[in-house]
Amino acid sequence: MTQSQAPELPVDQIPAFPMERTCPFHPPAAYSEIQDGDAPVKVRLTRSGRIAWLITSHDQVRQVLAHPGVSSDRTAPNFPLAVNLDPEEIKNMPKPALIGLDPPEHSVQRRQVITEFTVRRTKDLRPRIQQIVDDAIDDLLAAGKGADLVEHVSLPVPSMVICELLGVPYADHDYFQERTRALLSRDSTIEQGRRALNELGDYFVELLTAKEKNTPDDMLGRLITAGRADGTYDRDELAALARLLLIAGHETTANMISLGTVALLENPEQLAKLKADSGLLPTTVEELLRVFAIADVATSRTALVDMEVGGVLIKAGDGIIASGLAASHDPGVFPEPHAIDVTRSARAHVAFGYGVHQCLGQNLARAELEIAYETLFRRVPGLTLAVPAENLPYKNDAFIYGIHEVPVTW
Ligand code: HEM
Repeated sequence: MTQSQAPELPVDQIPAFPMERTCPFHPPAAYSEIQDGDAPVKVRLTRSGRIAWLITSHDQVRQVLAHPGVSSDRTAPNFPLAVNLDPEEIKNMPKPALIGLDPPEHSVQRRQVITEFTVRRTKDLRPRIQQIVDDAIDDLLAAGKGADLVEHVSLPVPSMVICELLGVPYADHDYFQERTRALLSRDSTIEQGRRALNELGDYFVELLTAKEKNTPDDMLGRLITAGRADGTYDRDELAALARLLLIAGHETTANMISLGTVALLENPEQLAKLKADSGLLPTTVEELLRVFAIADVATSRTALVDMEVGGVLIKAGDGIIASGLAASHDPGVFPEPHAIDVTRSARAHVAFGYGVHQCLGQNLARAELEIAYETLFRRVPGLTLAVPAENLPYKNDAFIYGIHEVPVTW
């Protein structure tokens, strides 16, 4: 039976979102309580005050993300925005790229870049990724015991990979990493978020202007050439897409390298299984992606039509947060969901989303994570944390989960 939205709770009694984690390796406890009820619940976004439906069951998250009647348009009045931008002001900002578009515009833009991220393309990149990981580990070892894994390995590896792929000078990494942090931090002001986004956009407009002269054989050069050939080239539009690829391409994977390494060190029996059989690398990576589902709120939408989800009527115009983290811990699909089991078949997780917006860079992320974990534990067999795991600075202050610093020793 459809419940409609009654009984309405007074706004101050609607649970606040995002919800607090009590353990750095587990989703917020409130997610399981909501999951027990098996129906979407309303939450109040602390930043914008907007009300949205939080969906936690694996079935319902996939139902919503595959539904043709939901929109990713960040400018919609009720969109549960998960970055530090003013929801009112965002309407006047330059066009969104890919993640903020709906079909058919979304399908057109996705087709333009999909060939750059195929399994085959990623396979060709593996030797270069291996070299980048090896160099990063040399750097970590040279820095000496107590060095920060984030500074020497987690952040440089995916940053360098996405820079080389796009054709962005890695020398500019401080510039874009700092601005990405400002955009994704819950602690930045709206002004800081807006400035970070605009500066990254301007950076790419300048870079593209330079590339237009000699169109190099890198992803941005190829996209300029292809766009000119079919008459669709638009510098601002490509700058917005490049900005998304750069942000999504480094921050996510960096956080997963750190979290996955710490999780394996904290679960020595699982790490021992992996060390004994490197054939377990692919399932290990899927399991770690599932356990952390770091881009939990990326899968937010607005309903374009009335729809029934778990017996609840979600009305056209309502905001929806389809939680990839909660869905990836649904005990009906993943028994003992909080336990890390490197032999589990976790591929049905929703850490990369689901439906038309499913992560474009997932093959690349998988390759980077496999190579990073394998090389780190092979080359630094005595790797341990230099501080207790519970004292690490987890990113409870960011829209994408991770760890700010991981001092290690060996
Ligand atoms: C562990 C690493 C990663 C995680 C957990 C992750 C997670 C996600 C999620 C949950 C979405 C879906 C958003 C939605 O439904 O609205 C997404 C989309 C996307 N991701 Fe990733 N991502 C990762 C790595 C990457 C990498 C390496 C790239 C490389 C460029 C990338 C590029 C993108 C893009 C462009 C989209 C938007 C796709 C679209 O709207 O069609 N991601 N990602």
